[in-house]
Amino acid sequence: MSLVIDNVGELVTNDEGDGLLGLRRDMAVVVEGDRIAWIGPRGEAPAADERIDADGGAVLPGFVDSHAHLIFAGDRAEEFGARMAGSPYTGGGIRTTVAATRAASDDELLRNAARLVAEARRQGTTTIEIKSGYGLSVADEARSLRLARTLTAETTFLGAHVVPAGHDADDYVALVRGEMMDACAPYSKWVDVFCDRGAFDGDQARAILTAGAERGLSLRVHANQLAEGPGVRLAVELGAASADHCTHLSDADVAALAGSDTVATLLPGAEFSTRSPYPDARRLIDAGVRVALATDCNPGSSYTSSMPFCIALAVRDMRMTPAEAVHAATAGGALALRRDDVGRLRPGAKADLTVLDAPSHLHLAYRPGVPLIKTVLHDGVPQ
Ligand code: NIG
Ligand code: FE
Repeated sequence: MSLVIDNVGELVTNDEGDGLLGLRRDMAVVVEGDRIAWIGPRGEAPAADERIDADGGAVLPGFVDSHAHLIFAGDRAEEFGARMAGSPYTGGGIRTTVAATRAASDDELLRNAARLVAEARRQGTTTIEIKSGYGLSVADEARSLRLARTLTAETTFLGAHVVPAGHDADDYVALVRGEMMDACAPYSKWVDVFCDRGAFDGDQARAILTAGAERGLSLRVHANQLAEGPGVRLAVELGAASADHCTHLSDADVAALAGSDTVATLLPGAEFSTRSPYPDARRLIDAGVRVALATDCNPGSSYTSSMPFCIALAVRDMRMTPAEAVHAATAGGALALRRDDVGRLRPGAKADLTVLDAPSHLHLAYRPGVPLIKTVLHDGVPQ
């Protein structure tokens, strides 16, 4: 099956073209099967079986949401309400979701996660990472990842989210790096640790991450969300693909990221929903750090699946330019997942893209909260 998307007003390639986004104007894109086959001036496209008229709208790579926690049951709307009335966010509510998740059936967990994947897809997300972390027992973490695996190839073992109630911290770390890792590794591509105040310290995080690496997992770290600490530098030292959150950074943290292959993944939905100061994206970008944007979708700190919302927040409140934010939400996310087949539009790349009901990428931040995603192609198939 082939398909042409014609009459593209602005094409964001993140490849060859103008500026950071590799912009090209008045284009057409031809898709064959699940891949991009051809990109060129509109009106010159080879014949195809089907045609989509972009009507002068912008076409972008599908968003790559490299950080989401979708295997859970219940929600924490009351906790959100209390926060908006002045209570601080501590991460303590994670245990509430753990209890609800353990009590839920496989079917309930899968239906809830599939609902959120579909919700994200309607908002232009074509690649999504899904973490465990609300099971926190060998059986519940393994089933979380087994279910996540049916929805995405980007699965992350986050048994080290918090120490569950009734466990000694050292015993729990030994469990995570031993029996739980063995049970979860077959369903996981990544291992992650919440290395932060009130969660796991640097030594504990190092022990778990290195055990994951020995089992062939690649690394990512929840780092420096709640306070400065060792998380970011540990991520860089161990060659993690990404350090996520990066809200409280010392100059040494920024320098370490700038000299590394570790992406700083910023999650403005979390600061929005916890009413916390945003990470300083400008400081990171100006220092040469590579940045991704992701939703952190979870029922506690950031219950949004919307990448356009995160782009708008990043532009308005993190002083990113619209081009930087769109790049971070597409090519940045791909880099954070070490993928080169998504996040950019060029022949041979996956045919994952969105058509906007707007003439340029600027509108994603300029028209916040407006449903501008007109068409989504995933694996070359209109959704
Ligand atoms: O990334 N910070 C740790 N984990 C999640 C929050 C989880 C929750 O509050 O349920 C996060 O923000
Ligand atoms: Fe998270």
